[in-house]
Amino acid sequence: MESMVDLILHKREGGAFTRAQIDTWVRGAAQGTVPDYQLAALLMAICLRGMTAEETRDLTLSMAESGRMADLSGVGGVCVDKHSTGGVGDTTTLVLAPLVAACGGKVAKMSGRGLGHTGGTIDKLESIPGLRTGLSMEQFVGQVARIGCAVTAQSGDLAPADKALYALRDVTGTVDSLPLIVSSIMSKKIAAGCGAIVLDVKTGSGAILHRLEDSVDLARQMAEVGRLAGRPTSALVTGMDQPLGTHVGNALEVKEAIDVLAGRAGGRLLEVSLRLGAMMLTASGVFPAEAEARTALEAALADGRGLAKLREMIEAQGGDGRVCEDVSLLPRAARIVPVPSPADGYVVRMDTAALGMASQRLGAGRTRKEDAVDPAVGLVMAVELGQRVEAGAPLAYLHVGARGEEEAAALVRRAVGISPARAPVPPLVYAVVRPEGVERLA
Ligand code: URA
Ligand code: CA
Repeated sequence: MESMVDLILHKREGGAFTRAQIDTWVRGAAQGTVPDYQLAALLMAICLRGMTAEETRDLTLSMAESGRMADLSGVGGVCVDKHSTGGVGDTTTLVLAPLVAACGGKVAKMSGRGLGHTGGTIDKLESIPGLRTGLSMEQFVGQVARIGCAVTAQSGDLAPADKALYALRDVTGTVDSLPLIVSSIMSKKIAAGCGAIVLDVKTGSGAILHRLEDSVDLARQMAEVGRLAGRPTSALVTGMDQPLGTHVGNALEVKEAIDVLAGRAGGRLLEVSLRLGAMMLTASGVFPAEAEARTALEAALADGRGLAKLREMIEAQGGDGRVCEDVSLLPRAARIVPVPSPADGYVVRMDTAALGMASQRLGAGRTRKEDAVDPAVGLVMAVELGQRVEAGAPLAYLHVGARGEEEAAALVRRAVGISPARAPVPPLVYAVVRPEGVERLA
């Protein structure tokens, strides 16, 4: 067998790996038998030299098979998974899981915690009093079979190679490499066991990839790897040029999801949710076409079945379902503080990552994995791109707990660009990637 040094040199010189070569170092990463410094050197070589489509597929499958593969056959029917590449104010999962289930879909979703400026669905759900996110495989499958949806924390034994590699990428400047992102996300999705996958690939100032062409390429490559793995995968490429919803934080985003399902809120969050939901219902064969699926989703929203399903899901996981009727039962911050606009003008730019960071500094997110989050804190945007604002009027409201108020206020002030002249508002949905090809919408 080739040594790790041979493999590093091979990639450094621009060579392509065979599946057997990939298995060698992926297994070493999963089992901890290859030292971090060699994995780090290899990751940097991959980052600089890239990978072919075949290598990316092989790496994804090798990582997926590096641990346990979930078996969802007990659910009966095609389970569908939805995954976002990470955003701010992006609470689509909490809207979608119940709404799609209310229309006959089977949503078996494994989610993560927030890290850096992006939020995580598991942290949001844990702001609901009593709710359990550590379901056993049997509880998870049983709940999806019974009520149509469940959201649980990803168990540590799925794709263990990704855990080792991702931790190194984070600290070695090797996160934004297409083959490494594709294999990281898709290995976890494939190991999580769903028959169909719908992806929300973000682009813009709050996304992992800022340039549209890179985001479309990522979506296309993930869809291709999903197809090769026998898991039909489609994707939406959506804008992260501003937070998707108005609420950023844990309980705050649960509240916004409830508001959407109750018909009290809408906007960008609802539009992206309806589009992704229609793709989930067609990908899993519940509806033949997205137009019919969308009509069904809108009906389930209008007559309250989506909200009733969220309550059912919360209660099935041990949480207090009354939050669906009374959002004041969710944790609330001690103080709500407006951040005033420094000038008159139009909102022409937002640094979405900085807004996510402001929420994190208030305690909604972590700087290190082991940090605890404050469920109540975060921020609520008072403006959106294109809007006119007067000096002194609020840009956002900070929901403040024990820390970070001044830093968060400064981040929000810097993140929102005000100009005397209007600027074009960027699109919400840029492209749809389906097995038959890429459709550009903007
Ligand atoms: N999310 C992941 O899980 N992996 C990546 O590489 C990037 C985003
Ligand atoms: Ca997410």
